[in-house]
Amino acid sequence: MGLESNLIAISDLTEPKIRELMARARAFSEGALGRQLPRDACVATLFFEPSTRTKLSFQRAAQRLGVDLLSFEVANSSASKGETALDTMRNIEAMGVDVFVVRHKEDGAVAGLACEAGEHTRFVNAGDGRSNHPTQALLDMVTIAQNKGEDFSQRRVAIVGDIKHSRVARSDYQALVLLGVRDIRVCGPKPLLPDADEMPDAVFVDRLEDALADADVVMTLRLQRERMECGLVESTEAYHRDYGITAARLAHATPDAIVMHPGPMNRGVEIADAVADGAQSRILQQVRNGVFVRAAVLERALEGSRR
Ligand code: CP
Repeated sequence: MGLESNLIAISDLTEPKIRELMARARAFSEGALGRQLPRDACVATLFFEPSTRTKLSFQRAAQRLGVDLLSFEVANSSASKGETALDTMRNIEAMGVDVFVVRHKEDGAVAGLACEAGEHTRFVNAGDGRSNHPTQALLDMVTIAQNKGEDFSQRRVAIVGDIKHSRVARSDYQALVLLGVRDIRVCGPKPLLPDADEMPDAVFVDRLEDALADADVVMTLRLQRERMECGLVESTEAYHRDYGITAARLAHATPDAIVMHPGPMNRGVEIADAVADGAQSRILQQVRNGVFVRAAVLERALEGSRR
């Protein structure tokens, strides 16, 4: 296993590889230990954008694998003095890092760093721009499988909200298609929808109630105001009125539909408290699964890195 043990996008994986990672994550959730790794194996988390869930769950996963961990904080680093991401990566790599976990605001930045690194250094994308968040998609697939079974072909999935700016939505869509989901509905305000050719297997639905009708998985997304040009949304109140997932709206889905959100949530905007904290919410289960999925992904990357 060589460079294919990088994980930059879901498109790096096939369905069997996704299922293999899901099975390994399930094994970790049931208490499996990590496989034997070199004694001085080292993971560095290189986050140029803020994160709570992704960064800490990668760190927790590395601890679980028993490998060394370097954590890079932009604010307290020489990046704040103008050092580039490439120089930052090269300098940390020189300390003996096997796997970088990188988040960056620019599309393609993680792939760009991977191209510049040494031949034995591996990369895992922890989110780049609007493009990819592959480990979020994997943990979402694990969460769906835990609640709805391993056969994805009969799933009816509604992806709701700010899809245009969402790397989670793009990676989730790709994973759902690879796992065989045939009924994917996307719904949101028109300025927040992606181009149709980005999601050719999805049905674009205007009314939220129609998108939710008989859905058994409801994926809500954060309104990403930091990536948004001005004026795309009238107001957060109007957004909640038209696209917020409330208990009344959720009643259009199947009674056992699960509700997912990648976090962080804008409570009262894309999701009502009663839904976020309600019986159908699987939001904290997603977070828990993140540790196990990331342990599986890191183990694969570390095994692919032969110094
Ligand atoms: N879902 C997600 O990427 O959350 P963080 O930004 O907190 O990592």
